[in-house]
Amino acid sequence: PTRVLTGITTSGTPHLGNYVGAIRPAVATSRVTGVESFYFLADYHALIKVQDPARVQRSTLEIAATWLACGLEPDKVWFYRQSDVPETTELTWLLTCVAGKGILNRAHAYKAAVDRNREAGEDDDAAVTAGLFMYPVLMAADILLFNAHQVPVGRDQVQHIEMARDFGQRFNHLYGEPAGRQYFTLPEAVIEQRVATLPGLDGRKMSKSYDNTIPLFAPREQLKKLIYSIVTDSRAPGEPKDADSSHVFQLYHAFASATETEAMRQGFLQGIGWGEAKQALFERIDAEVAPLREKYEALMAKPADIETILRDGAARLRERHAIPTLRALREAVGLRDLS
Ligand code: TYM
Repeated sequence: PTRVLTGITTSGTPHLGNYVGAIRPAVATSRVTGVESFYFLADYHALIKVQDPARVQRSTLEIAATWLACGLEPDKVWFYRQSDVPETTELTWLLTCVAGKGILNRAHAYKAAVDRNREAGEDDDAAVTAGLFMYPVLMAADILLFNAHQVPVGRDQVQHIEMARDFGQRFNHLYGEPAGRQYFTLPEAVIEQRVATLPGLDGRKMSKSYDNTIPLFAPREQLKKLIYSIVTDSRAPGEPKDADSSHVFQLYHAFASATETEAMRQGFLQGIGWGEAKQALFERIDAEVAPLREKYEALMAKPADIETILRDGAARLRERHAIPTLRALREAVGLRDLS
């Protein structure tokens, strides 16, 4: 079967960007026959940004409930918390020893941190942890551990998946070729073009780090308020508006059918007012999200049930995949068999 894998960092409340970029396509794919899915909560990754244990735990619960509310069926897919599969960190070390430091130097998140430091007149690496620098190696371990073929993500993750390919290939070359075997499948990013980078309230990429997100399960009134607060230009009703450069339009496109989107494009040409466009956007998003929101709230009321699902998923997954894979990898590099 084709193996599809993706994760979400448990550093905050899931937002519309996570939903359209990862959750919605991943849940749809999990229903395709011949697909084996691996969906997880990336809590090791959260530690890079969040040193607040209560927040990591809260976020883990929220993101788990979100996956389930969005239709993930835990008895048909592998659904787990990353840190419940400690083989991930062991594989991270094996990959660290073949990963090129020069490649990590070029990672967007690390480079952005260095740029900020330079602008502030600080040392390049001021306040940069080794965790931030190693982020792509940990992510490569997530993907390579289960030999995923496809990784549904937003555009911001593409570079990480290319790095995972690079590290996997290097490992295959060093250890696989002499033994005549390929240890790792090289993964591919799967990106839905119309939602590859969903804009946030200020028009930049919707992101927890920019504080411009619309929470996926914001209560209806808050959702409406947030949508009405999306930054727009001051063109008056009646003036033609350019759909493609409008964030309101891009958001609408991410939630509406092709026909609805085309009608909205015409509306823009005819100078639809921002209030009207935002109302239509609100109604479109709410229509999709409202039934999920109800399920989400019911799930959040029973955290113990979610905990059981996660633990059970990880236990089966370790048994079936992670432990045997690490056994083979330890042997490949010359470490002792622990079993
Ligand atoms: P994270 O938690 O930042 O985001 C989770 C997923 O949501 C997508 N996304 C977006 N898509 C479109 N528009 C946006 N504005 C937007 N914002 C976020 C992200 O692209 C991502 O798909 N490193 C990952 C988590 C991770 C992972 C993995 C993903 C850890 N290991 C292995 C795939 C495979 C991250 O921080 O995503």
